[in-house]
Amino acid sequence: MRLIKLATANQILEMPIVGLGSWRAQPEEMEKALWAALDAGYRHIDTAFNYNTEETIGKVIKQWISQGKGRREDLFITTKLPNCANRAADVGRFLKMSLDRLQLSHVDLYLIHMPFSFRCNETNFSPLTNEDGSFSLDYSSDIIATWQAMEQQVQKGLTKAIGLSNFNAEQIEKIYSCAEVKPAVLQVELHAYLQQNDLRALCKRLNIAVTAYAPLGSPGANNHFSSKYNYSGIVSIHDFPDILGHPVVKEMAEKYKKSPGQILLRHLVQQDVIVIPKSSNPERIKANIDLFDFELSQEDMGKLNGLDRGENGRIFDFLFFKGVEKHPEYPFKQRIDGW
Ligand SMILES: NC(=O)c1ccc[n+]([C@@H]2O[C@H](COP(=O)([O-])OP(=O)(O)OC[C@H]3O[C@@H](n4cnc5c(N)ncnc54)[C@H](OP(=O)(O)O)[C@@H]3O)[C@@H](O)[C@H]2O)c1
Repeated sequence: MRLIKLATANQILEMPIVGLGSWRAQPEEMEKALWAALDAGYRHIDTAFNYNTEETIGKVIKQWISQGKGRREDLFITTKLPNCANRAADVGRFLKMSLDRLQLSHVDLYLIHMPFSFRCNETNFSPLTNEDGSFSLDYSSDIIATWQAMEQQVQKGLTKAIGLSNFNAEQIEKIYSCAEVKPAVLQVELHAYLQQNDLRALCKRLNIAVTAYAPLGSPGANNHFSSKYNYSGIVSIHDFPDILGHPVVKEMAEKYKKSPGQILLRHLVQQDVIVIPKSSNPERIKANIDLFDFELSQEDMGKLNGLDRGENGRIFDFLFFKGVEKHPEYPFKQRIDGW
């Protein structure tokens, strides 16, 4: 497995370039998927406080280690601070809750999941909503203060590295310029239709590794947005992108005798982008990490680069959180301004 060296002070930390995503996996499904993934050689797992997969992941890891199949230090575990806890005073207690659920003494990477913040419903640790269904925005949060609390978690040994997710260029530079512990990783939506070239160039300059979420275009995410949030969004259900089904991707799959998913993932790892595809299907789990016995030609890389739709390729604009665009740290304002 290829490893990406992270820029962390005082320690060497390497992140496997392929990890298992876990969003939208139900507990039983997650358990089977994680066993299949560990057997297939995955050593990097991506979760978050609000995916409800931390407990199951913790249980499987504990069994995997106690059965002598591997050691904690063989694994790279990422989790995330939820958007209802995006304030300095909450960072420590939410990381502690994640660690308890994961049954771990530390994670390898802790990310601020989103730059904007909601007020928290303390009974179930989810965002509070208003009577009209909009989300209750927390205007008092301060991304710099939250970052400083993230830095303290590294100093306490509760995470090896810290990073950002869904932050835009301006927000990243703001944090970077006053950070004592620099962000090691940026996790953003990144796939053939949204290639994030400017953001990747910025990260390269700042020595921040990039993780691609939704690297396959998150098939089925639209059903989740509509069933959970009653949101059909600016991408109508019928227009939801089918990147795996794009003729260029399908043709290339035939040419290289690989699946369309493997072509899309190889396109990213060949550029040193970390990928975290989610699957609960054992065959697809295996295929999604089996990316290192072929290389896409420069010409084919160029063809895949040509599928980029820029901002129009974005699937995750978070507008399913009704009213989120009014938050001062909503990161994709240019998308709304363009309407
Ligand atoms: N930071 C953030 O805000 C954020 C947001 C979204 C996601 N994420 C993280 O990134 C991970 C990946 O993103 P994602 O789950 O949205 O999307 P994804 O990995 O692009 O797509 C997952 C979907 O593709 C299917 N699939 C998996 N492998 C396949 C293959 N080889 N061929 C065809 N279909 C395949 C899966 O179904 P089966 O299970 O049936 O295979 C699942 O429905 C998440 O699970 C989560 O850990 C982070």
